[in-house]
Amino acid sequence: MSERNAELSHRDLSVLWHPTTQMQDHHDGLPLLPVAEGRGAWLRDRDGKWYLDAISSWWVNLLGHCNPRINEAIKAQLERLEHVILAGCSHEPAVELAERLTARSPQGLERVFYTDNGASSIEVALKMSHHYWRNTGHPEKTRYINLANSYHGDTLGALSVGDAGVFKAAYEPLLMEPITVPSPDCFHREAGVDCAEHAAQMFVHMEAALQEHAHETAAVIVEPLVQGAGGMRMYHPVYLERLREACDRHGVHLIADEIATGLGRTGTLFACEQAGIAPDFMCVSKGITGGYLPLAAVLLTETVYRAFLDDFTNLTGFLHSHSYTGNPLACAAALATLDILDSDDILNRNQETAQRMAEAAAPLGEHPNVGEIRQTGMILAIEMVQDKAQRTPFPWHERRGLIAYRHALERGALLRPIGNVLYWMPPYVIEPDEIDWLATVTAEAIDQATQD
Ligand SMILES: Cc1ncc(COP(=O)(O)O)c(C=O)c1O
Repeated sequence: MSERNAELSHRDLSVLWHPTTQMQDHHDGLPLLPVAEGRGAWLRDRDGKWYLDAISSWWVNLLGHCNPRINEAIKAQLERLEHVILAGCSHEPAVELAERLTARSPQGLERVFYTDNGASSIEVALKMSHHYWRNTGHPEKTRYINLANSYHGDTLGALSVGDAGVFKAAYEPLLMEPITVPSPDCFHREAGVDCAEHAAQMFVHMEAALQEHAHETAAVIVEPLVQGAGGMRMYHPVYLERLREACDRHGVHLIADEIATGLGRTGTLFACEQAGIAPDFMCVSKGITGGYLPLAAVLLTETVYRAFLDDFTNLTGFLHSHSYTGNPLACAAALATLDILDSDDILNRNQETAQRMAEAAAPLGEHPNVGEIRQTGMILAIEMVQDKAQRTPFPWHERRGLIAYRHALERGALLRPIGNVLYWMPPYVIEPDEIDWLATVTAEAIDQATQD
């Protein structure tokens, strides 16, 4: 590592503790990437080397780093109002964003409650759902049904309703106990069964859980179509169709966690649209500000909202807040993001980009250690396996993904594999030749990672 990168890395490792990181890796020499500048899909380190941000900086960046139009919108807002308490006060960006989000969301989602990150929006949806039932005479509905291998964030409530073991194991004694149902994840389908059939078959488990537990269950929570942190595992929309119908039949809310899938990532503005359903709560964050500033929105139905309207002294109100709720700068970034998605016809353009991703990745499918390439819109995942025919995973402790990560970083691509799964989730502004180059680097990274 050259001097300027090394200098910052040294200072960093003396004071910082990085998220979702075993810090010993860095103390043992895993390089940090000291980023000095971002442009489009690229990041520049302090020594002037550029890296393709193939993971949109943890799935948040949609329209490129330092996008001039989002920059301008934030600057303009900054000259007017940087922040104000949202309890008792209002401001134009928060109202306009709520109007535009509700107009663009599945029908029935008519209210917005803001928070300032994904996990906190999950906390809100969980609390609101239970509180709704309590306010309407069902205080016994205190549990949640989730899918195996799901992830909803790292705060205690969100962690409780997730099922990603590595994130959760150390905290089990602190957590609520969800009712966990096998995932419709299409990777696990039997030979000769397609994803739609598999999803329909797997729904029997959800139906059984609802049958048994609806009386004590407030909500079912799912990541629609793609289980992101669980390894970009994907499932067919028919599962969501059935889930919506079953939740209604059993009197249980449906919470759609669109934190990673929302804002066009899966091909439609929201993943739920592909199943033609509207959840009772929809959590949106990450890409909502184009990847600029922390913001989340919980969209919910008017029915839920009205169940909280009461005389104050009955203490049925939703007493929950975060200091930066509905921050005006973040809302301005979100409005600019929605403007660009529309004016530049981004979702239609993404169809071509996604097609190019599919074509560029296809040859990797021939690799003896690639078990599957799967794609939903602008998410493409490549599963490295030990045995192709059986799809046997590499033992997790071999950390093959980390080998791929290091190789890609040396070549100038920021990949961040999840275990043995390499994935591309680039900013929507990625160019076709950049995709082709990423495929070359990814092929090399897989070669390196699968050598014995
Ligand atoms: C589906 C999903 N839900 C929730 C979260 C948590 O969001 P945040 O990291 O903003 O708390 C994430 C983050 O990766 C996510 O992918």
